[in-house]
Amino acid sequence: MDIKREVLDELCKLDLKLDIKKYRDLFVFSSDSKNGDVCLPCFTLAKELKTSPLKIAQDLASNINSNLLDNGVILKSEAVNGYLNIFVVKSLIVKNVLKEIFEKKQSFGSSGEFEGKTVVLDYSSVNLAKYMHIGHLKTTIIGLVLKNVYQNLGYKTISINYVGDYGTPFGKMIVAYNKWGNKQDVESRGVDAIQDLYVKFNQEAEKDESLNEEARFWFKKIESGDKKAKELSSYIIELCRGEVERLCNELGVKFDSWRGEGYYSNKMQPVIDELSRKGLLKESQGAKVVDLSEYGLGVCLIQKSDGTSLYATRDLAAVQDRYDNYKFDKALYITDIAQKLHFAQWFKICELLEKPYANNLFHISYGRYSLPTGKISSRLGKQALLKDLISAGIEKSKEIMLQRGTKGNDCDEISKKVAIGAISFEAIKNEKIKDTIFDIDASLNFDGETSPYMQYTYARCCSILEKAGKKIDIDKINFENIDNMNGYEIVKLLNKFPQTIFDVYEKSEPCLLVRLLMDISSEFNKFYTNNRIIDNQKVNMQNLSIVNAVKIVLENGFQLVNIPAIKKM
Ligand code: ARG
Repeated sequence: MDIKREVLDELCKLDLKLDIKKYRDLFVFSSDSKNGDVCLPCFTLAKELKTSPLKIAQDLASNINSNLLDNGVILKSEAVNGYLNIFVVKSLIVKNVLKEIFEKKQSFGSSGEFEGKTVVLDYSSVNLAKYMHIGHLKTTIIGLVLKNVYQNLGYKTISINYVGDYGTPFGKMIVAYNKWGNKQDVESRGVDAIQDLYVKFNQEAEKDESLNEEARFWFKKIESGDKKAKELSSYIIELCRGEVERLCNELGVKFDSWRGEGYYSNKMQPVIDELSRKGLLKESQGAKVVDLSEYGLGVCLIQKSDGTSLYATRDLAAVQDRYDNYKFDKALYITDIAQKLHFAQWFKICELLEKPYANNLFHISYGRYSLPTGKISSRLGKQALLKDLISAGIEKSKEIMLQRGTKGNDCDEISKKVAIGAISFEAIKNEKIKDTIFDIDASLNFDGETSPYMQYTYARCCSILEKAGKKIDIDKINFENIDNMNGYEIVKLLNKFPQTIFDVYEKSEPCLLVRLLMDISSEFNKFYTNNRIIDNQKVNMQNLSIVNAVKIVLENGFQLVNIPAIKKM
């Protein structure tokens, strides 16, 4: 329910000697319910009308109060220091909001606003030569949340894990495999064996530069399509990719496409030809570049002097391919802020090439992360690998669940869900540009502002509803006595859910949604402490309906932010 709109529509009907329509945008939500629900700061108006804000607020307030409609949403208004505060009829708001939630259920918060549009999201996109580590969490989770939110608003989404499966690292791995590896070991230990070989290569190459030469040689062979080199590199790449896919699955992250950089390595020529046809390409010390210095973006390397392709060139080829395949309306790239220049450069090149999608490319960047703090960190070591983080998280939640008395198989299931929730929450709890320290120990705490706290709130709602065992007929409930303490505040928060999803979409800021879910959870727990829901077997239906609405909204919200909903914990 759009409370502000309801209020404004009603104000327009009253005879107020002021053209409300003209000043709609000046109205805001009151930040503190002591000051009502909707508020008009009268200072801008005062300048325009050349009177004092105090007088405007006072005149409006008394006009409104003497003009109130029967059965309207406005209860009363007050003038305080140049602010016009408007109070609504709480019972009416609560009834309407709850009704909407119960009618829409799982689809409360979704809309078909962007039906027919397509967005391509490029996230996670890890370089396969290395283990996935906590540095990959933000791109993976932010990407997933944005995908869910876009879908929720009607977009068709295509998620792409544009894996880094190309470059000299794979030449190095082949050299290492040929020199020190054996098939049996790789077959039984998989990625671990490959990683050991890669580490060994780097150690040995420090002593013996010729190894790097050899790696470049093999990389060239891969590029030129040499059968043996291709076979070996595909074998290694598939193993590494499999592991990344396994980890993503663990986190509940799935992709529509895994088409990586390697796919584009031999599809550069059309890009280079087009750039040169349009007169954008320059020679510089044997390499081919696009000079973007007049836009303050430096020089973008397109092809190295030895003919090998470059990151930007592959992105130019990939975006064209994606456009040809999906005719996207928007393409999002979610990476670390360190890649800002890279994206700015090739986005600019698309503009200069007058690509139809040039204005629909967005780099969603986020800040740095640091290693986890807390007990788990010492076990994870300097690299903080994602697989270790996940298992440490599961182990720790299992400990907690056992202490709390969860039994048997349930305990395994639940610990995993708690760990996944905590990890997802860590990745998006702050504004994305803020640097994050992964404090995974603290994130598993049940008392703080954590994901288990929210999951527990949800489970509490489920158990109350089960215990009450009553069907709720909202039309039969009378909310006359509703007040801030006994539910109105929660209902107001629940009502913010659809708009918040939209805000996440507009600002690409998933933290807005987790914060709302956190606010709902803590407000609910206050409500739970202060109010009886089931008293001596007698169920208070007003309170129960609020519990049910909280359950629905948390469930819908959790789904969007990758926090598993657990009915019993
Ligand atoms: N693989 C790259 C990295 O790990 C990220 C790729 C991001 N996506 C893109 N289309 N450039 O740094």
